[in-house]
Amino acid sequence: MDFQELIRVRRSVRGYRPDPIGEDVLVRILGAGRIAPTACNLQPFHLIVLTDAETRQRMQAAYARDWFWTAPVILVGCAEPAKAWKRADGWCAAEIDLAIVMDHIILAATEEGLGTCWVCAFDEAKTKEILGIPSEVRVLAMTPLGYPDGIPRPFARKRLENLVHRERW
Ligand SMILES: Cc1cc2nc3c(=O)[nH]c(=O)nc-3n(C[C@H](O)[C@H](O)[C@H](O)COP(=O)(O)O)c2cc1C
Repeated sequence: MDFQELIRVRRSVRGYRPDPIGEDVLVRILGAGRIAPTACNLQPFHLIVLTDAETRQRMQAAYARDWFWTAPVILVGCAEPAKAWKRADGWCAAEIDLAIVMDHIILAATEEGLGTCWVCAFDEAKTKEILGIPSEVRVLAMTPLGYPDGIPRPFARKRLENLVHRERW
C-alpha cells in the first residue's frame, strides 16, 4: 500500500473480530513506534501492551466502551514529561512526541490490515492505578489493535481552504 492510500484507508474502527494478532505483526507495529522522531531524540515514552483477560476486565473501569474491549490487543501510550525536551519558555514536547509515536503505530497497524482508534477519553487516574504506572508518567492515548468488524462512521473533513493559510494568517 503506498503512503497516500495508507492515510486514506486508515479510519477509526469501533468494532473488532476476536482473531489474535501474530507476535511478529505486533513487534513490527511496536517497532514503527520505536523509530518515531522525538524532540532532541529523548524518546520519553513507554507503551503498555494489554492482552491479559483479567487486566482488560479491570481496565473497563477506566474506559467503559464495549466496542473497545472487542479488540484482542490494547496499546496504552505513556509519556514522561520529566525526561522530555523543554523549550526555553518551559513548553514540554512530551505530548507531541507521544502523538507521533502513536501515529506511526496506527499507520503501521493499518498497513498490516488491522483496525485502530485513537482514544483519549479514558480515566487517567484509574488507568495509572490499575496498570501500576508511576505518578510522574502521563497516560496520553490508547488504541485497540484488531481485525476490523463493522463499517466506520462517515468520512468528514473541512475543506483545505478552510485550514491552510498562505504566507500569513
Ligand atoms: C487525539 C484524539 C483523541 C480521540 N479520542 C477518541 C475517544 O476517546 N473515543 C473515540 O471513540 N474516538 C476518539 N478519537 C477518534 C476521532 O473521533 C476520529 O479520529 C475522528 O472522528 C476522525 O475519524 P477517522 O479517525 O475515522 O478518520 C480521537 C482522535 C484523536 C486524534
